[in-house]
Formats: sequence, structure tokens, C-alpha cells
Amino acid sequence: MARTDPAFRIAPSLLSADFARLGEEVRAVAAAGADLVHFDVMDNHYVPNLTVGPLVCAGIRPHTTLPIDVHLMVRPVDRIVPDFARAGANLISFHPEASEQVERTIALIRDHGCKAGLALNPATPLSVLEHTLQKLDLVLLMSVNPGFGGQAFIESVLPRIGEVRRRIQATGRDIWLEVDGGIKAENIARVAAAGADTFVAGSAIFGSKDYAATIGDLRARLAA
Ligand code: DX5
Ligand code: ZN
Repeated sequence: MARTDPAFRIAPSLLSADFARLGEEVRAVAAAGADLVHFDVMDNHYVPNLTVGPLVCAGIRPHTTLPIDVHLMVRPVDRIVPDFARAGANLISFHPEASEQVERTIALIRDHGCKAGLALNPATPLSVLEHTLQKLDLVLLMSVNPGFGGQAFIESVLPRIGEVRRRIQATGRDIWLEVDGGIKAENIARVAAAGADTFVAGSAIFGSKDYAATIGDLRARLAA
């Protein structure tokens, strides 16, 4: 079920950026027309990979006015939320499996001035939204299993996108529906048609030579 208004958002994932020049990379994608900076946090516990923490989030903060969209793939999650809020995060999403008490974590994120998102793996039942959707600003639907960039889009996620769109519609609230993993020029229009409004793209953007041309092409596919 596609959305009515065409306000789509492109969120380059820094996981595929050049970490030796992260500030430059953030400035480059902002100049190339990105709407958000997707900041993947991995702890080698919840997912089998280790990336960056609040210090690096604070490091990139001065380089852009774009919202920093922090995706916590960590367990436990509550202790680190205030640190990311202080480091300049604007949105913080977490995986329900990583939280002792999902509604408490959502409240903690919002109490620290950030928008709250729930990140759902392809196999996570949508029933987790039943008592939480009204409290969320964002649903982050994984279209790969979390832990790495450059993976293939999992097609079976498409009906889940439509179902979450229907549930968001039923709330009457403006909750963002972000899809994360394997988004490319070849599939972004189908993901939008299924009901997404916000698109994470890591390797598609940072693996390309011209970020503006790539983001422009993604937008053209969305507008087609
Ligand atoms: C995976 C991360 C994604 C990933 C997206 O665990 O949450 O944000 O970096 O990268 P691509 O677009 O290359 O799949
Ligand atoms: Zn992510």
C-alpha cells in the first residue's frame, strides 16, 4: 500500500562510508541531497560486528545539520541511550529483543529529546507493535539480517512493509516507515510502493563514485 504524499527521505548509512574521512563523507552526502545520516551502532554482542559509539556520533555532529538517525544494534540498550542523545542523535532506534522492557526504552529515548524508533528484523513478529506503535516516531523494518552492509534485499519483507503501513495509517499519526538493508536503484520504487517513506542506503551510495548522481537517481526512481 503506497503512501499518498511523496515526502520520501534518503538516509545514507555511514557503515559503508570511508571511516578515515568520516566528517568529509557526512558533508558530502549532505551536499548530495541526503535527508538523514543513518548511524549504525554494533556491539559484537547483539550482532556479530563492532562499529562506533557516542564519541564518533559527537565527532560527526558539527559536520552537518541533518538529523542523525542512530540505529542501535546493541544489548543491553538503555544504558547507552543518554550518551547518544548527548552526542547529538536526533532519532534513536533499537531492537525489541535487546531491551528488558520495550516501552521503558521508548520513554527513555523520548525523555532525552530524541525521536524513538523500533527496529524489526525480518523474522521479528509484527505483534511487538501492538502495544508500542502509538508511542513511536519511527518503525525501522530490516530488509537484511543486521550486522553488515552490502547484503541482498530480502524480498519477503515487502508484505511486512504493507502491513506496517496499514497499522500506521490506522493510528492516524505521522510515524515514519524506514526500510534498512539492500536498498538499490533497482528495488527502491517497489519498496516505496509497498509503503515505505524513508530509505537507508549504505553500499548503494558510498559504493558509488558520485553521491549526488546516485541520490538523484534514487529520487528519480521514487518519483517515477
Ligand atoms: C545493517 C545496517 C544497515 C546497513 C545498510 O545491519 O543496519 O543500515 O548498513 O547497508 P546496505 O544499504 O549496504 O545494505
Ligand atoms: Zn541500519
